[in-house]
Amino acid sequence: MPQSQKAGADRLGFADFPLEDSLSILESGDASTVEKKAAMASIGRKRNSHLKPILIKYTGDRNPEIAMQAIRGLLVFRRDPDIREYLVALYNHPNDMIRDVVRQEIHSADETETRSGAHADSPDFMKDVVVHGDVQEILKHTPGESVHLTFTSPPYYNARDYSIYKNYQEYLDFLDGVFYEVHRVTKEGRFFILNTSPVIVPRAGRKYASRRYPVPFDLHARIANMGWEFIDDIIWAKPEKSAKNRVAGFEVNRKPLTYKANARTEYVMVYRKKSYKLIDWNLRQYARDTIVQSLVSDDFERSNVWNIAPVTDRVHSAVFPLRLCDQVISLYSFVGDLVFDPFAGSGTLGKAAIRADRHFFLTEINADYIARVRQNLGGAFGFDRTIKFMGADEFREEAGKCQ
Ligand SMILES: C[S@@+](CC[C@H](N)C(=O)[O-])C[C@H]1O[C@@H](n2cnc3c(N)ncnc32)[C@H](O)[C@@H]1O
Repeated sequence: MPQSQKAGADRLGFADFPLEDSLSILESGDASTVEKKAAMASIGRKRNSHLKPILIKYTGDRNPEIAMQAIRGLLVFRRDPDIREYLVALYNHPNDMIRDVVRQEIHSADETETRSGAHADSPDFMKDVVVHGDVQEILKHTPGESVHLTFTSPPYYNARDYSIYKNYQEYLDFLDGVFYEVHRVTKEGRFFILNTSPVIVPRAGRKYASRRYPVPFDLHARIANMGWEFIDDIIWAKPEKSAKNRVAGFEVNRKPLTYKANARTEYVMVYRKKSYKLIDWNLRQYARDTIVQSLVSDDFERSNVWNIAPVTDRVHSAVFPLRLCDQVISLYSFVGDLVFDPFAGSGTLGKAAIRADRHFFLTEINADYIARVRQNLGGAFGFDRTIKFMGADEFREEAGKCQ
């Protein structure tokens, strides 16, 4: 919208009309949405309880912007039990923005504003713990709302040897089950950050084509449907030379349609556990000192393109660069929080957690990688932390003691 038009619309938004004028604008076939919204807002601003039936009538307007404005007018009367009941019924409104506004407003009216401490805490038996086993089994015994942040890079379908699935569907279903449980164990309004990229499965022979599976895109709808709110798509960009060369043939023949780009990016998808509480509520759950200690230093990444070189490890073939974990932890958690990696591999997230004064909870199925975690997080790292390594059975027992 041009600046002058916007200023006009803003002025209109605060205009007070006589009731009859508002009603005729709302019923006029010629009035624009901006004019109708202004008329509706003007009725709402009267805060006159006699006008409740009019506000109720327009909550059913087919234009969601008018309906939203009517609802905002009605929210003034939310302490009136009948109006509250009416608003609660709008929890199922077909428009998602309206649903969210109503739920958030009703919840914030109910919410106690005091800090309970429970949100900032996590169970002691999970702090600085590495569990060797299948994460699907371990999550069954992990208490709900115990984790502040999950950052993970799941197995790359069948592109590496360490995990093999019957087919792509089975792979997606497996991740679906894990992320559903991650949602359960995550605290209200906290973050789940997922690093994936499309995966290439090599061709079966010269006669056949290789296949590229769009993992982040196939996972996104599933993740959003299980109650994670999409927040950001961060691109992890690697130097050109680190990409597998897929253009060699094209370089020579230059024939259209045969082009395949060298992939030097991965996705770091940011999700938040859906909550009608705002981020401010999360912040209020921490002591002031904790917030001050957790403030992010000035060299933080401003854009959604994070240029970070990949790293190699002599034991594990696909490890996180420590810098990637450092950035995620500092931007999405507080000092003392519990961060979780269900597919821990060599334990890079644990290392970053220690450096940033957070606790970690790691699960990994492969015994060789567990041994690598021991080396990586051992005393040589120079931090004084007691780290507990256990199997899935021991974890189940520990969890049982805390019920
Ligand atoms: C991409 S790697 C993660 C590497 C890790 N980010 C790091 O920095 O070392 C994925 C890991 O998931 C592990 N994994 C696969 N299936 C698993 C399961 N069901 N439970 C736990 N870990 C599993 C694999 O053994 C592998 O180490």
